[in-house]
Amino acid sequence: MVKYRISGTIETKLNPNFYYLRLRPEDKPITYSPSSTNAKPQPEEDNSVLEIYGKHSLKGQVKISGAKNSALAIMAGTLLCSEECRLTNVPQLVDIQRMGQILSAFGVKLQRQGEVLDLDTSNLHESNAPYELVSQLRASFFVIGAVLARLGTARIPLPGGCAIGARPVELHVRGLQTLGAHVEIEHGVVHAVVKGDRLKGAKIYLDYPSVGATETLMMAATLADGETIIDNAAQEPEVIDLANFCLAMGANIVGAGTKRIVINGVPKLHAVDYAIIPDRIEAGTFLVAGAITRSEITIAPVIPEHLIAAINKLQAIGVKVVSDTPDSLRVIPSYNLLGTDIETQPYPGFPTDMQAQFMALLTVSEGDSVVTETVFENRLRHVAELNRMGADIRVRGNNAIIRGVAHLSGAPVLATDLRASAALVIAGLAAEGKTIIQGLHHLDRGYDNLEGKLRQLGAKIQRTSGEVVQPVFTPTPYS
Ligand code: EPU
Repeated sequence: MVKYRISGTIETKLNPNFYYLRLRPEDKPITYSPSSTNAKPQPEEDNSVLEIYGKHSLKGQVKISGAKNSALAIMAGTLLCSEECRLTNVPQLVDIQRMGQILSAFGVKLQRQGEVLDLDTSNLHESNAPYELVSQLRASFFVIGAVLARLGTARIPLPGGCAIGARPVELHVRGLQTLGAHVEIEHGVVHAVVKGDRLKGAKIYLDYPSVGATETLMMAATLADGETIIDNAAQEPEVIDLANFCLAMGANIVGAGTKRIVINGVPKLHAVDYAIIPDRIEAGTFLVAGAITRSEITIAPVIPEHLIAAINKLQAIGVKVVSDTPDSLRVIPSYNLLGTDIETQPYPGFPTDMQAQFMALLTVSEGDSVVTETVFENRLRHVAELNRMGADIRVRGNNAIIRGVAHLSGAPVLATDLRASAALVIAGLAAEGKTIIQGLHHLDRGYDNLEGKLRQLGAKIQRTSGEVVQPVFTPTPYS
């Protein structure tokens, strides 16, 4: 019998467009095809909204899904191998679906069952990625290194900017040139060709420790001839996860997680069964949700070490986080939240992907705080929406100056990017009355069933069609 797990009945009844995102077949495998989104409603057309009735405390344990940004890079990494790979702990996200479609356009056969994704990369018949797909998922540009190393040629459209910044890719391109690729950019497409039989190992210095460039170049170098050294490499846990995946396929990589990665190219990689690490950003988002609602919640599985910067800032705000087991974290409620300053940095610094969620928490923390965004040039768009909910935030350049207020009040707000949408959910959980969040296609890109998980913890949150609906919950304030 085919069983379906539906993460909430209200949304599926009210919004048929949402059905395909939230119907989670447990037994029935899904296959991907490059055109599969065309046959289905585009998430951007989805006009559903999240309704949150704030000031309810949360309680219990929540399961953290696999890391989006690891899974995306590792899916690209499967292109390096010409045998079948099995990935487990793959989160159920629109971005993962899109990466599946890109791989499928290259000729990869994919089959998904729950959190298990099988990829047969034995028969790549295409080295071109379609613009319609790349433009929807910026991370899909990261396939360029693997496709080039495997097929000797790759044509990948420039992904362009997105809601949080211009996001150029010159570090990827320059690195591939250093590895001996001939690269031309014409009509918005990067066309890279290997000179000779294989890419050639080389010394690469990255002007900035870009996560994507480190991943692209590490993948390309695994099949290159000789030794590659990447200096000023990104040290993010997702880079380590990709390196571990490549090692499991037979690659020779040392130093992932440090500023210098050394890769000795091998001629061929083999099949692997690999589990994706837990998502540190989803984990951090739940810790902040616990802190703002003054709730005790436990998150697992997690790798606590990946969350040190976030835990450190929670402690500065007055919120304790303890680890009862090696793979769990528990947030202990505090009624006295204090402002603090935060500056985003590459790992192990404070992650830009947690900036918006912490800003939501700081809006109701006593005193002044300054949040400085240094990684992306346009990642403060949630400020205007938080101010609509009663926050007191001023922006000066890349600084947001926050004066803590006694309470937020629910309002209709618009999610402007993925992490901004999580920040609005967090603010909504603490606000008085009802918050209505639009622009949920951002949230669905990167959070696996966020509202279902929050509901399980006791949050009063539901997805509706966007039409005016009567409240179904009676607000009972937690303080
Ligand atoms: N940059 C350049 N040139 C390049 C590459 C990057 O100037 O060739 C700049 C970017 O414009 C940005 C900065 O360097 O200002 C950092 O970009 P990076 O390349 O490190 O980011 P990314 O690889 O594009 C990944 C994550 C992001 C996360 C950043 C930083 C994936 C798929 N995405 O992006 O995740 O914010 O690293 O940690 O891994 C998210 O999940 O919400 C998200 C945006």
